Amino acid sequence: MIEDILPTAVAAAEAFGDPPEAELLPEEQAALGEVGEPRRREFTTVRHCARRALGALGLPPVPLVPGHRGAPQWPDGIVGSMTHCAGYRAAAVGRSPGVRTVGIDAEPHAPLPEGVLGAVSLPEERSSLALLAHEDPAVHWDRLLFCTKEAVYKAWYPVTHRWLGFHEATVDLRPDGSFHARVLAPEQPGPPCTPTFFEGRWLARNGLLLACIATLPHV
Ligand SMILES: CC(C)(COP(=O)(O)OP(=O)(O)OC[C@H]1O[C@@H](n2cnc3c(N)ncnc32)[C@H](O)[C@@H]1OP(=O)(O)O)[C@@H](O)C(=O)NCCC(=O)NCCS
Repeated sequence: MIEDILPTAVAAAEAFGDPPEAELLPEEQAALGEVGEPRRREFTTVRHCARRALGALGLPPVPLVPGHRGAPQWPDGIVGSMTHCAGYRAAAVGRSPGVRTVGIDAEPHAPLPEGVLGAVSLPEERSSLALLAHEDPAVHWDRLLFCTKEAVYKAWYPVTHRWLGFHEATVDLRPDGSFHARVLAPEQPGPPCTPTFFEGRWLARNGLLLACIATLPHV
């Protein structure tokens, strides 16, 4: 389903479970270390997805080890993103510079836990959630806002190598399945290539919310 909201320049693969053939490469085993079974499964399956997506671009299987602040280290000339939540894992990759950056996030389609919305949203975003809920009450807009903001961070970080807090970007969710994110004046001035906005798409299907950003160079 993720292909439905990604441009054709981006290759993606997803899984709704953990296939037994999914395996870690030795470098990934070492990077993962001792973790619980749920973490081992999501880490393994999402890398299986990533290798399938890289394969669709014609690349051989390579280890995908987390880098600085957890951002995936892709092969040279590749940009991409990974996500996992209960019952879903996905990876999306594109060739740079044809694709500048990718950020994807999946969440269960359920309301945010009590108290989280205030921490991850700005007042103007909370006002628009009420209007959106009136327009389409079937969507958990609070969780979607969170989901799109995590996709923004995953698209932002590999380009800037900088943290971006939930109050440092504002997202305009649209009922047509698109969203626009604007990065608010950063505390430190960034280099001229620092993105100031992202366009993305979202969908609600199969009990999941998905948000995808794939920035093409003209944006
Ligand atoms: C990093 C973060 C976005 C991950 O999101 P999540 O919903 O918790 O988890 P997901 O399963 O969707 O994504 C996890 C994957 O994100 C990727 N990821 C982790 N850190 C990353 C980073 N700094 N940059 C890009 N991708 C990153 C990794 O591939 C990770 O999977 P892995 O550990 O198996 O390799 C989240 O934990 C976080 O720190 N958020 C705070 C920052 C933020 O979202 N700001 C909002 C700005 S508007």
